[in-house]
Amino acid sequence: MDTIVTGETTGGGRTARIGEPPLRTAVIVGSTREGRAGESIARWLVGHAEEDERLDVDVVDLADFSFPSRYPRRPAPAMTEFASRVERADAFVVVTPEYNHGYPASLKQAIDYGCDEWFAKPAGFVAYGMSGRGLRAVEQLRQVFTSLHMVTVPDVVSFDLFDGSVVDGRPRDAEAAEMAARRMLDQLAWWAHALRAARAAHAYAA
Ligand SMILES: Cc1cc2nc3c(=O)[nH]c(=O)nc-3n(C[C@H](O)[C@H](O)[C@H](O)COP(=O)(O)O)c2cc1C
Repeated sequence: MDTIVTGETTGGGRTARIGEPPLRTAVIVGSTREGRAGESIARWLVGHAEEDERLDVDVVDLADFSFPSRYPRRPAPAMTEFASRVERADAFVVVTPEYNHGYPASLKQAIDYGCDEWFAKPAGFVAYGMSGRGLRAVEQLRQVFTSLHMVTVPDVVSFDLFDGSVVDGRPRDAEAAEMAARRMLDQLAWWAHALRAARAAHAYAA
């Protein structure tokens, strides 16, 4: 019998499944740009994710990695460290801006350092930009993640940084933003539980 009570809140978070470890959830901060908005947006998301008892959050900030400028013949230590953080994760939240109707090169560089570490795991998105709200970046990332045998959740938390809906790095309508984050994290947790059990039962057939 399933002992979970999904949707029941405790102290503003969601309850963990009894007898199961929390879902290791890597929050990947995609922008490494100097003066980036991504850092405060990620901080806001992480604040909510850390209240969620289902999740064990690992902040994977790409600005903390010294990746090589060219893809080397042998993986550099930073590449191996990134891939091992991906391997440890059961789920991902990618915090991405939109650059020229796509996602930033820093994110693609990092994604390509993993392969089967990504397989059979879910990803959700927090996206931001101008009027496109980062959604074109997300649609491109869905394609890339499909090629890595991942599931992407439909609901996206997205912000227009230029219409006043984000003030000092925080959403002006905190309640609506929190609800959007909850919807995304609920979908992510559902898939993460299902896929973790499936991976444990059978090796994924890539
Ligand atoms: C190179 C570049 C290209 C951009 N292109 C777009 C774009 O196509 N659509 C959009 O909505 N915003 C675009 N923007 C605005 C960014 O989404 C916005 O500046 C955001 O703060 C960038 O994220 P970051 O500050 O975390 O790096 C662009 C910004 C940069 C730096």
